[in-house]
Amino acid sequence: MMRWPRCSRPLLGVCTLLCLALLEHILLHDLEVVPRELRGFSQDEIHQACQPGASGPECHGSPRAAPTQCDLPPNSRFDCAPDKGITQQQCEARGCCYVPAEWPPDAQMGQPWCFFPPSYPSYRLENLTTTETGYTASLTRAVPTFFPKDIMTLRLDMLMETESRLHFTIKDPANRRYEVPLETPRVRSQAPFTLYSVEFSEEPFGVVVRRKLDGRVLLNTTVAPLFFADQFLQLSTSLPSQHITGLAEHLGSLMLSTNWTKITLWNRDIAPEPNVNLYGSHPFYLVLEDGGLAHGVFLLNSNAMDVVLQPSPALSWRSTGGILDLYIFLGPEPKSVVQQYLDVVGYPFMPPYWGLGFHLCRWGYSTSAITRQVVENMTRAYFPLDVQWNDLDYMDARRDFTFDKDHFGDFPVMVQELHQGGRRYIMIVDPAISSSGPAGSYPPYDDGLRRGVFITNETGQPLIGQVWPGLTVFPDFTNPEALNWWQDLVTEFHAQVPFDGMWIDMNEPSNFVRGSVDGCPDNNLENPPYMPGVVGGTLRAATICASSHQFLSTHYNLHNLYGLTEAFASHRALVKARGTRPFVISRSTFAGHGRYSGHWTGDVWSNWEQLSYSVPEILLFNLLGVPLVGADICGFLGNTSEELCVRWTQLGAFYPFMRNHNALNSQPQEPYRFSEMAQRAMRKAFTLRYMLLPYLYTLFHGAHTRGETVARPLFLEFPEDPSTWTVDRQLLWGEALLITPVLEAEKVEVTGYFPQGTWYDLQTVPMKAFGSLPPPASLMSTIHSKGQWVTLSAPLDTINVHLRAGHIIPIQGPALTTTESRKQPMALAVALTASGEAQGELFWDDGESLGVLDGGDYTQIIFLAKNNTIVNKLVHMSSEGAGLQLRNVAVLGVATAPRQVLCNSVPVSNFTFNPDTETLDIPVSLTMGEQFVISWS
Ligand SMILES: *[C@@H]1O[C@H](CO)[C@@H](O)[C@H](O)[C@H]1NC(C)=O
Ligand SMILES: *[C@@H]1O[C@H](CO)[C@@H](O)[C@H](O)[C@H]1NC(C)=O
Ligand SMILES: *[C@@H]1O[C@H](CO)[C@@H](O)[C@H](O)[C@H]1NC(C)=O
Ligand SMILES: *[C@@H]1O[C@H](CO)[C@@H](O)[C@H](O)[C@H]1NC(C)=O
Ligand SMILES: *[C@@H]1O[C@H](CO)[C@@H](O)[C@H](O)[C@H]1NC(C)=O
Ligand SMILES: *[C@@H]1O[C@H](CO)[C@@H](O)[C@H](O)[C@H]1NC(C)=O
Repeated sequence: MMRWPRCSRPLLGVCTLLCLALLEHILLHDLEVVPRELRGFSQDEIHQACQPGASGPECHGSPRAAPTQCDLPPNSRFDCAPDKGITQQQCEARGCCYVPAEWPPDAQMGQPWCFFPPSYPSYRLENLTTTETGYTASLTRAVPTFFPKDIMTLRLDMLMETESRLHFTIKDPANRRYEVPLETPRVRSQAPFTLYSVEFSEEPFGVVVRRKLDGRVLLNTTVAPLFFADQFLQLSTSLPSQHITGLAEHLGSLMLSTNWTKITLWNRDIAPEPNVNLYGSHPFYLVLEDGGLAHGVFLLNSNAMDVVLQPSPALSWRSTGGILDLYIFLGPEPKSVVQQYLDVVGYPFMPPYWGLGFHLCRWGYSTSAITRQVVENMTRAYFPLDVQWNDLDYMDARRDFTFDKDHFGDFPVMVQELHQGGRRYIMIVDPAISSSGPAGSYPPYDDGLRRGVFITNETGQPLIGQVWPGLTVFPDFTNPEALNWWQDLVTEFHAQVPFDGMWIDMNEPSNFVRGSVDGCPDNNLENPPYMPGVVGGTLRAATICASSHQFLSTHYNLHNLYGLTEAFASHRALVKARGTRPFVISRSTFAGHGRYSGHWTGDVWSNWEQLSYSVPEILLFNLLGVPLVGADICGFLGNTSEELCVRWTQLGAFYPFMRNHNALNSQPQEPYRFSEMAQRAMRKAFTLRYMLLPYLYTLFHGAHTRGETVARPLFLEFPEDPSTWTVDRQLLWGEALLITPVLEAEKVEVTGYFPQGTWYDLQTVPMKAFGSLPPPASLMSTIHSKGQWVTLSAPLDTINVHLRAGHIIPIQGPALTTTESRKQPMALAVALTASGEAQGELFWDDGESLGVLDGGDYTQIIFLAKNNTIVNKLVHMSSEGAGLQLRNVAVLGVATAPRQVLCNSVPVSNFTFNPDTETLDIPVSLTMGEQFVISWS
């Protein structure tokens, strides 16, 4: 199998020369074009296999008479007219049942009127044989379906890859079809023990996957007929529970509704709103089963698709091409499901430390002088700022890799000044390349043309669309030559302007004209027999023609990979140009995106609804291996209000990627624009974030090396408590911090769910060593929860953050940049359980070098508390981390006043104990590289 090689270590996550050479050899057959008139399906064909005398179950639902087995419960009916509305007569001609029903007026969809009887012809399983890795079999269909070009014989390969991972593919054994060029793990032999068992239904064909532990059926594809036509593939399965999440990118609650929901995956430039296809496609779901076990399913398919959820509960994948390539992850904990998914698509890249600081951007910083003022004004108002950004404004005529000599004449100097101040710089880069200038006037276009890197149209010429610079062509990042061309552009521009990262926008790819300025041809790729529920009703809406040509295949197949391939190209180019860890933020994404880039949630409106939707979006992308994610703080489109901007900044301080970004012509929303009171509230949130950065960075290391999440939903930590399953207005950072933001206007209280255990208000952590964390606005108390909803005080200057008993987090003195904060002394916040225990970790390195893990140039320390004693375990040391100062250890949950505190056997005279908050504050003078024992009695 020729696939886009996955290039080993995610930190370096770049394609090597070998990998490029392989890419070059990949040749995939495009879908054959079916003439339109053949798409219909004639009555005779249906009847052929069911002539008098014919036997076999495929004839039970003879379309001559309406089928008899139509008394299925409404929730278990699978749609026999997914492609279009049809009449009773047309439905029965398909051999299906027709039972009209009322849909509630506001329902997006409801139970189908035309549905499959149980006897509807499907595939039959034949010649099942065991192999080294599992099973193989043939699937044959005797009767064609109502879609054109059924593939009547298929090959099933069932691979029992690991104890917890089952993988199967269904494809055409005779003709190679398009497959997603993502390299996935390959396994040579069957896992000796598995958490699952597999059974087959012969006729109609189906696969049943059970969890061995409790016999629960996780997957049963027998529930509806399998479709495998050239442009319509459908696989349905029962679900063991209605608690399902995933299937990004969409706006809405974290848990999906199985109440007849259709989720469309076709990457699209659109201001986020519920029930529409957004910028990214992640065909992965996670189901929470009764009792708290979980499993996940990934369909590795990049074609336009719908995923339909229905209340039985069941799910149908409906794709318009490719093959069926399905992974099932057995968990059993939801955390392991995420890890097992990331084992297949790749662990997230390790961001540079500065990337976790505050980023500031707006469309409308029209000169370098204004951009400088913003930085100065931030500093003057004591707001941290690590990375200054520019939107389109810096460009000359909105063309990539140029800058406006009139308004940004000293652009390179501006960037150098930012560096001198310990800051970084990022600018927007759009994929579309201006094609309208005279020949020789714009090297990116001229070189690209010469090197043949642009997507081409029906007549083999570069397809012309229209984006910000006017007429444009679109690079084809599946072409190895395009990767090199892009790298050359990045390197040359970087030699002029030493930027630090890339913001890749508009990469769905977005196009202001439908398809191209010349329209699109009329063929089956442009007008597939099944049109998923895309906004605009056509694949070309807001993008380029589906039938345009790319190096690996048609855009029809590759569209959803456009953002991923650009992220890959940009990540790789930054490594070559800068030699340090790359930083890429992308709007469009696909499964596996997190290996190369982060994501921001696009063009959100400045309103409360979008503020609250950002929580489930951030949680979802963490489950999908894209932990570096955030929404535009204070909102992008429209005007923010002071209150909204304060609340958004408080929540944004806990987005793994923290950026305030604003649209052209909206009211300014930099933190220093607001009243003193609002600024004080925002400053407090900034301070919290900067103090917590060592913990955040440690979480990213866990994501990068172990496939963990950074921001995580409560159910990931407390799956056995069903009350946590639907919580999506709070988020955890790792295991230890619970954030309960205010997401509504004019509220000074907030109600949050606190799983069983002790939760300490982070504001009670005494940090005299830093002298910077303002005292709480009101007296907070520790929450001892039985698993309950708790109403908290939340005045405008407060975001509630609770530290979970049993955890130790590293904290560092804040500063206005990470360059400075990284030099500040550290402290530990130790949150004891009732039995007096806690543990935590610190990962530290220089924050930007490549290959630190391979080179061993990092520090990793574990902290343990037990029996009134705290010790550290130096797992791995480097000079960088060893020199860090440790000044303070704050212990929460100390019930009785200690008489004595010892640090490495030496009495500490100036410890303080607060009996009201039960906190013990121990000033120390240690370095992180020293072994220590701190005890109290
Ligand atoms: C199943 O195996 C038999 C015997 O080898 C062969 O004749 C038949 O064609 C196979 N069926 C399919 C669908 O491959
Ligand atoms: C799978 O689904 C089919 C069709 O609904 C049903 O007859 C069968 O009993 C199911 N199998 C299991 C193991 O649940
Ligand atoms: C499903 O949706 C319908 C119509 O909106 C509603 O009447 C019904 O209560 C919903 N069912 C569930 C379980 O939410
Ligand atoms: C920066 O602050 C100065 C002084 O308050 C103000 O005049 C200027 O408009 C500000 N510039 C920007 C871009 O915020
Ligand atoms: C293909 O694009 C070229 C411009 O590169 C244009 O002249 C030509 O008409 C286009 N062909 C079709 C069939 O649209
Ligand atoms: C706990 O610490 C005390 C005093 O340091 C010691 O005497 C005792 O043995 C320790 N207990 C355990 C279980 O380690």
